[in-house]
Order: sequence, then C-alpha cells, then structure tokens
Amino acid sequence: MDLQYFLCWRVAPLFFLMPCGLQSMSVHILSEQPVHVIPGSRLVLKARIELGPLEEVSMVTWEREPETGIAPVRVRLATCAGRSLKCAGTRPTVDVNTEQQETTLQINRYSREDGGVYAVTVTDHTGATTTAHCIVREYEAVHHVSVSINVSHSSLVCGEAWGTDPSFSWLYERAAITTTVGKISNDGTTLVVTMTPICGHFTCMVSNKLGYNTATYTAAPCEGRGTTAAVVCLVLLLLVAGVLAFLLWRKHRHNNRGERLHEHLDDTI
Ligand SMILES: *[C@@H]1O[C@H](CO)[C@@H](O)[C@H](O)[C@H]1NC(C)=O
Repeated sequence: MDLQYFLCWRVAPLFFLMPCGLQSMSVHILSEQPVHVIPGSRLVLKARIELGPLEEVSMVTWEREPETGIAPVRVRLATCAGRSLKCAGTRPTVDVNTEQQETTLQINRYSREDGGVYAVTVTDHTGATTTAHCIVREYEAVHHVSVSINVSHSSLVCGEAWGTDPSFSWLYERAAITTTVGKISNDGTTLVVTMTPICGHFTCMVSNKLGYNTATYTAAPCEGRGTTAAVVCLVLLLLVAGVLAFLLWRKHRHNNRGERLHEHLDDTI
C-alpha cells in the first residue's frame, strides 16, 4: 500500500516534470557553420544524437540539396538502418558511420558540386523524426585585392572580393608598418596614415589557407632628407671643383710668368 502510494504520488509527477527526458530525441551537427572545404580535401560532418531513456534510433539518413535555386533537388547520400545501424552510401566518395549517439558523414575528394545544405534525419523506433541542417561551401582563394585612399580621413582602405576568411596586413616600402607611418584598424582593412605628407608605396596583403594576393597604393615620391643630402653633396662637389680649377689656373699662370722672366734674363746675358 505504501509502495503503491509512493509510486503514484511521488514518482509519477516526475515523468510530467521531465517530458524532455522521455520524448526528447534531437540531433545536432558539431561544426561551426558554414563549413568551408578546400576542393580535393575531405569533408567530415559529425552529428550528435540525443535520446531519451526509452528511445532507440532505427534509421539515419544523410541528404543534400542546393543552397539556392527555384526547385532545389534533394539528393540522398546515405542511409543507415537495421539493428546494428549498418550504413550504405549512394556514391563511391561517401562514407557514413552511425552509432546510437553519433553519426559521421565523410566525403572524400570534395568538389564544387558537393556544396549545399546537408540534412541529417534521425528516425526513432516509433517512427518520429528529427532533422539537423548544415551549410557547406567551397573554400575560396583570395580574389581581386585593391587599395583605395580616403583623402578626407588620410586613410587607405583594402578590399577583397570573395575569398574565405581573408586576413589583412600592410607593408610600407616592403617593411612592417611603424607608428610613424600609420595605424592599422582592428579588422586590418584600414590603415590610418599618420605620416605627412603621404608619400611612397603602401602594400596591402590579403591571405587565407590557399595563399595570398597583394595590391599597392603608390603616393607621390618622398622628397625627404635623401634628396636634400644629394643636393648639398652636389653643391659641395661643384665648389671643390671650382676651387681646384682656380688653383690650377693660378699655378699655370705663375709658371708662365717664371718662364718669361727666365727668357728675359737669358736675353740680357
Ligand atoms: C572616409 O572614411 C570615413 C570614416 O571611415 C567615412 O565616413 C567616409 O565615408 C569615407 N569616405 C569615402 C569617400 O570613402
């Protein structure tokens, strides 16, 4: 009597309090989205399956459809079913492995056509389903790097077209940017130039896993200490040459007069 009372009034409400624990099958893809894949490399998508205590997975399917398009066609990539959740891929590059808590889809030698929205659907023993989605795109190289000047703000802005995860850096006359030249914004795309006047070559370098590309902004040539020093040197050289020429000329004249004096003496003797 006591036990029955306990079950009815103490345990039963717990089931109402934890409906999630019973009917809570869910599936999550364990990747940061969108997933970018370098063509020719391997795409791996892992999904975690959460099950209630009385639930059991009876089937897992992986599908893909294009990210855009008027009537996207959904393609089945693999199905896992049966007591041991044995998997079968629909094409040679697809490998799938499923256990009760986890399912992994692997596409070897990823190509552009493998991009799209991937869907993993889990069916439990009662036929209920739950689905998770994941966007997969090709990892793109850096394209069309350009540098433009914002005259009103004395800044240079670096742009890039559609590369994946571009990272920006700057060089001045092929060396790192110092505080006397300018300050780079946190995202790296803008260089606020502090040197005045702005002169010389500013290069923006954009890179990602596939390589890098650069663009250079060429300002007016720098008329700095270098040029002044050259002018001073030239003036000094001309002065020295002038003095030398004068000395030579004087010596020559002196010699001539000496010879004439000699001749005169010879004549009188
Ligand atoms: C120059 O930079 C400022 C501040 O970032 C911005 O508001 C302005 O629109 C820019 N001017 C041009 C011509 O891009």
